[in-house]
Amino acid sequence: MKACPFDFQRFIDGWVREIAVSRCHLSEDFDPQILPSEPRFGDFQCNGIFAHAKRNGVVPRQLAEQVMKALQASDGAQLFDLSLAGAGFINFKIAISAVEIWLETYASEEDFCKAAGDLSGKTVVVDYSCPNTAKQMHVGHLRSMVIGDAIANLLEFFGARVIRDNHLGDWGTQFGILLMQLREEKIQLENLSPDEALECLENVYRRGTQATQVSEGAMERARAELVALQNGDPEHVAIWKWINTVSYASFQEIYDLARIKFDHVLGESFYRDKVSRVCDELSQCGIAEEDEGALVVFHRNHQRFCRQPFIIRKRDGASNYATTDLATVLYRREEWHCDEIIYVTDGRQRDHFEQLFLTAERWFSAKGYTRPVLKHVWFGTVCGEDGKAIKTRSGEPIRLKTLFTEAIQRASEIIAAKDQNLTEEERARISQVVGIGAIKYGDLLQNRTSDYVFSWDKMLSLEGNTAPYLQYAVARIHAIFRRAKISPDALGKFHKIHLRESQEIALARKLLLYPCVLRQALADLRPHFICTYIYELAGVFSAFYNGTKILAEDQQTLLSRLSLCARTLTVLRSGINLLGIGFLEKM
Ligand code: ARG
Repeated sequence: MKACPFDFQRFIDGWVREIAVSRCHLSEDFDPQILPSEPRFGDFQCNGIFAHAKRNGVVPRQLAEQVMKALQASDGAQLFDLSLAGAGFINFKIAISAVEIWLETYASEEDFCKAAGDLSGKTVVVDYSCPNTAKQMHVGHLRSMVIGDAIANLLEFFGARVIRDNHLGDWGTQFGILLMQLREEKIQLENLSPDEALECLENVYRRGTQATQVSEGAMERARAELVALQNGDPEHVAIWKWINTVSYASFQEIYDLARIKFDHVLGESFYRDKVSRVCDELSQCGIAEEDEGALVVFHRNHQRFCRQPFIIRKRDGASNYATTDLATVLYRREEWHCDEIIYVTDGRQRDHFEQLFLTAERWFSAKGYTRPVLKHVWFGTVCGEDGKAIKTRSGEPIRLKTLFTEAIQRASEIIAAKDQNLTEEERARISQVVGIGAIKYGDLLQNRTSDYVFSWDKMLSLEGNTAPYLQYAVARIHAIFRRAKISPDALGKFHKIHLRESQEIALARKLLLYPCVLRQALADLRPHFICTYIYELAGVFSAFYNGTKILAEDQQTLLSRLSLCARTLTVLRSGINLLGIGFLEKM
């Protein structure tokens, strides 16, 4: 055995596959189906033999026994205790000595990243957040920002070169209405703060929309304003630019609070001179066709999209969201050489992305362009207690700024109640990390494709699967090190870890499942797997903390147990970091 595997699940999968095929003559399509198992049975179990035997008309239990014997006689067997189970399953219990070696080998976040290089050499664009300008960010913008960031972190962890691109909606039809109404009302925005200006623009937009709904003339004027903007009229462009600048200043406040960073902010407007190539090429290739004056794409083999068109040029000649997105795929491929693009949006855009991907596929293959893998990571709605999309009392979506401010305020009250000795400054700092963490975690914890009910009490509770609970778990481990008068980092990997007590062993076994959990989160692009795991880990750690004397008199035991605490801290911090949440050494 060369080195201790980082990801035991993957190791067992490869091992069983190889031995079963080479020594037991199972066919190449054999899938071992290795899954974590109930701790009392072992660490992993192999479920695939049963199905394979059934399919091939052999007795599962006999086949399982044969494979197990072959495994026991091969290199790798020294890492496990194997046992047969049920009608044809194999249990794998990792030998204590192998668990100890794992803990010694993989001690830091750097060690983890080095070992998990699945995506190295890959360039992945993550397209997330992407609010529309001229409006403040609201609760509908929370999930893309939070989930997108976690996914980008996860890809980076696995070694990908990640490009975070905030594809702002800064070139939509909203500008025609806005420009018209601003002119009509002779509004001066220059002296307002970004938030005031946006608030004013939201109202202007509302009045403008009403006007265009009742008056054909207003509609015409709005259209004319949009055309003037699109034709580059300097006065129109200046106002548009100013609105975008002010919008971004307001978005930036949210990004700063949420600690979100982008590599690029190329809004839709960036592609305005790149859309004609899209229409030309799609027409030339016979993919797009004229339909009632518009240029559209149908997908004949698709149940719905054979009739539901993907419009890439409207009847008035204007390009749209679809055209821009097509141009964006090409740009990201040609300029950034990306291998993959991940779009993180609301589930209501599923049709758009399905049509986009189908169209891009046909276009790229007709032109012989290399097409990046395109993935739509969609999510459900944040609901209020009534189960409907969360709104303010007046029926507006709640602004993110309001939401974040309230989270920090509520966290501050909870923290003050828990510890009266904090300075004003400490309390403010902690409240921010806890409050924002609670909102982000409350979101990430949900399987992204489900809707969820937003509940302050649930997400800020110090018990249960919440950010504050996990942040406390981290702070508690730091407190142990303070008592031991040693720093977890100074401890390094130099101390032997001896696993003896049942709670130590349970904790160690839980720790080495971390890579498998990350791989699962990556495969499905679902960060909630990480949440579930770190929450469980914190629970197993608690049992260890309550059941074992960590600060033992015997120096060797002390250092071994402290090392186990340090490993737990590493995994907790790594998980919390991936989720984009902050933590503190002291709370
Ligand atoms: N601005 C869009 C919206 O608010 C989201 C854009 C998502 N990204 C994309 N490339 N289409 O719904």
